[in-house]
Amino acid sequence: MKYKSQKIAYYFFALSMLLLSLQIIYGFIMAFAHMGYDGLHQWIPFNAATATHKNLLVVWIISGFMGAAYFIIPDESDHELWSVPLALIQFYSLAIVGVVAIIGFHVGWFEGRKFLEIPRPLDYLVALNVIVFLINILVTLYKGKKHSTTAWVLTSGLIFAALLYLPGMVWFDNHTVDSFFRWWVVHLWVEGVWELIMGGILSYLLIKLTGVDREVIEKWLYVIVGLTFLSGILGTGHHYYYIGTPKYWLLVGGIFSAMEPLAFLGMTLFAIQMYRKGNKKHPNKLALHWTLSTAIVSFLGAGLLGLAHTLPGVNLYTHGTLVTAMHGHLAFWGAYASLVLAIISYSMPLMTGRKILDNAMGHFAFWLSNIGMIGMVAAFAAAGVAQVYMERIMGVDFMKAQLELAPHFFVLILAATVFATGITLYIINFLKFGVPVDEAIGQGEEFAALQTN
Ligand code: HEM
Ligand code: HEM
Ligand SMILES: [Fe+2]
Repeated sequence: MKYKSQKIAYYFFALSMLLLSLQIIYGFIMAFAHMGYDGLHQWIPFNAATATHKNLLVVWIISGFMGAAYFIIPDESDHELWSVPLALIQFYSLAIVGVVAIIGFHVGWFEGRKFLEIPRPLDYLVALNVIVFLINILVTLYKGKKHSTTAWVLTSGLIFAALLYLPGMVWFDNHTVDSFFRWWVVHLWVEGVWELIMGGILSYLLIKLTGVDREVIEKWLYVIVGLTFLSGILGTGHHYYYIGTPKYWLLVGGIFSAMEPLAFLGMTLFAIQMYRKGNKKHPNKLALHWTLSTAIVSFLGAGLLGLAHTLPGVNLYTHGTLVTAMHGHLAFWGAYASLVLAIISYSMPLMTGRKILDNAMGHFAFWLSNIGMIGMVAAFAAAGVAQVYMERIMGVDFMKAQLELAPHFFVLILAATVFATGITLYIINFLKFGVPVDEAIGQGEEFAALQTN
């Protein structure tokens, strides 16, 4: 760690770990409910569980992104963070809004717009929180001596992500129009500007872990940004097929969204190429594992499983089924969850001075969570295909089809147990690091010296 203020990242990472644990608990509640074991229904009905599961996901990922920015931006711009007290206020207010939102879901205070369930008054607090965060980052960049492409790509991703939250805050009486703009948030986040955040963080990690020249790594970033915008913006059309929007979206959405996997493929090739080019052996093997898995699994989950249902002819059958859940899990896991786990794995030894870089528990955490997630995705896939066949081809009633799917949820729970064991080990490792200490300042150089063989 170069700067004392980078320590602030730890708070955001700790919040991420806490919310991830809660998210998994709600995942289990839903999986059991799907099997007919819905004992908690009175307190946590399915709609509350699903809203909590998905919003916790969004908040822990965003908290991870914020932590990443607080760690990376001072390092990249060669300057202490502008204001640590402001970052702390921003941290506590984010945590409070998160807690209020979760409690709200359990007492019926939510909007019912998938992924954007939190009520409007809380939206305003979120917006304020993000503005404070961005000001802190931008002033730091402005005061900094260096202005790297990596820092700018990361920051512009964060700015655009904040701006794109706004269309989701406007009230529309018409359901189609409301849905139309909801996708500006949900789709243009994960298949647009979050990819810039991903590109920025991956590029930072690859510069540090492989030792390849910054110029080479940053050139790739332009390619990824280009491919993302070329395909992702009009690719939004793959959500407009059958919601009451004009017919031309079938063509536009089909063509452009089918090109989206290219951006993810670019990200994979980028990481693997840089890894192979790298001549330095960084001791933080765990961070390298998570960095490469982010690049590879995001391509599988977002690119390939996205492509599997993105053409209008296929989506006509699969829309809103467990096929979507199959893709949603691997895409979010591969791209954004693994990315946050990568930057945490990289930064924790630097912030705390503890060299837990290559231990067995960390490797078990990596493999169990990834294998468990792939098992979960296979269970969702089997359930999804069976659901499409029964409901959409045979015309079986929704609830009758659900009954037939129960065995797949048993498999889901088995795989989810493996996954949750992996995450538990990851969190135990995280706790073993302890809290950041000032003595760790300057550790980066020590690691850099270790790299040169
Ligand atoms: C123990 C772990 C988990 C279990 C058992 C689980 C289970 C579930 C279940 C049963 C659903 C509802 C499916 C439906 O009826 O529509 C769901 C939704 C979802 N979960 Fe998980 N989940 C787990 C972990 C995760 C993780 C780690 C992520 C992200 C990285 C995630 C992302 C999602 C998303 C995005 C949805 C919405 C899917 C859709 O749009 O259809 N889940 N999960
Ligand atoms: C990391 C990037 C991605 C993530 C995190 C992600 C996640 C998700 C989630 C959570 C949903 C459900 C949304 C909802 O119903 O509200 C969804 C839907 C969808 N995604 Fe992705 N996705 C990603 C990339 C892609 C890509 C690259 C493609 C196409 C090649 C794609 C194709 C689709 C399609 C067609 C749907 C609609 C499914 C339906 O009609 O029910 N996704 N995605
Ligand atoms: Fe999309």
